Amino acid sequence: MLNFNFYNPTKIVFGEGRLKKLNNLVPQNAKVLITYGGGSVKRFGVLDQVKDELSKGSREVLEFGGIPANPRFDILLDAIKIVREQKVDFILAVGGGSVIDGTKFIAVAAVADEYEGRERELMNFGFTPVPVDGAIPFGTVLTLPATGSEMNNGAVISDGEDKLPVFSDHTFPKFSILDPVLTYTLPPTQVANGVVDTFIHTIEQYVTFPVGAGFQDRTAEGILQTLIEVGKTTMDEPENYNARANLVWCSTMALNGLIGAGVPQDWATHMIGHEITALTGLDHAKTLAVIQIANWKIRRTPKKKKLLQYAERVWGIREGDDDARIDLAIEKTENFFNSLGMATRLSDYDIGADIVDKVVAALEKHGMTQLSEHGDVTLDVSRKMLEEAL
Ligand code: NZQ
Ligand code: ZN
Repeated sequence: MLNFNFYNPTKIVFGEGRLKKLNNLVPQNAKVLITYGGGSVKRFGVLDQVKDELSKGSREVLEFGGIPANPRFDILLDAIKIVREQKVDFILAVGGGSVIDGTKFIAVAAVADEYEGRERELMNFGFTPVPVDGAIPFGTVLTLPATGSEMNNGAVISDGEDKLPVFSDHTFPKFSILDPVLTYTLPPTQVANGVVDTFIHTIEQYVTFPVGAGFQDRTAEGILQTLIEVGKTTMDEPENYNARANLVWCSTMALNGLIGAGVPQDWATHMIGHEITALTGLDHAKTLAVIQIANWKIRRTPKKKKLLQYAERVWGIREGDDDARIDLAIEKTENFFNSLGMATRLSDYDIGADIVDKVVAALEKHGMTQLSEHGDVTLDVSRKMLEEAL
């Protein structure tokens, strides 16, 4: 096992009806800014419930709606100005990964006085934490299980064709309310996105090379098997509480630092996927399903030992030689994604061969030239994966 630090201060408040705890979780005298997305929380009554709970204290409550999927820097800038001008001292994100990620950016940028007027520069630090001393404290009410943003300190922010990761030691939510019932209103395509994003977060931290991390491996395998068990059910039966509760908890646990501690991590699929979203607008998880299958086809040799472990422990594949078992594991994974209505080719989304040069150029621009657990995913290897995914 590799050396690691593990730190996660986010309090999780899980289960049906737990929104009622909001009044105890948000400071009583706070000046609160509620952040939300394009309107689903208004349509389905979640925003009203949140405001009812907050009104039980002596708080002043402001709202900032309109954070789009793939949160945009220019829109977030308006919220940053409100937080500064109105001296907001607590933010409550109500929504999915985009709203939560956007809120993290607002929370750090609003206190980074030395970056006032040049907040865009806070998007240039990649996986290195942004150099700020603090953030406005914030909590979340999750409405879409997928990203794990509700219990980690990462965000992905878009500005034109740049879609870039932003990290800070100060952007762990203070708390996250995870009520599976609040996710019942999701359209099936977003539920499929959630299952696949969670599956691939797990894979990025598990199908690399063995380092004897038994707990992390067994936990990753447990998440993958749970997703295989509940994935189809939670799409077909959106109000099946237990299936949805398992998806929500898998999503949170897949990307809160636990299974990634002390193991090598890949993330090539994600970095290539982010460029595809930035260039085409295709949903995050849909880019991943396409690239992950191609990643394994191109990089089956450096991943051989873990692919064989994945084949045996997750899919129960024990027959045939090494190549046959890896082929079958890739096929079963692709079939699983397809069973959720998730396509695994770029052409399924009418994305043609011209995307290859564009993504490779964007990866180069963003310094993504040595991706993966070995740093061996050069621009050339990324190109091969994209060609394989067409
Ligand atoms: O905007 P509204 O109207 O609220 O609608 C949203 C949005 O259109 C809708 N939605 C959310 N909850 C709903 C609902 N519709 C009905 N009922 C509900 N309960 O769903 C749509 C998609 O929402 P979004 O937040 O964009 O989806 P997701 O949670 O998948 O987040 C994707 C973003 O997270 C980033 C992605 O790159 C992308 O920008 N990621 C963040 C990560 C992190 N912070 O750790 C890691 C991930 O790998 C990922 O990169
Ligand atoms: Zn993801």
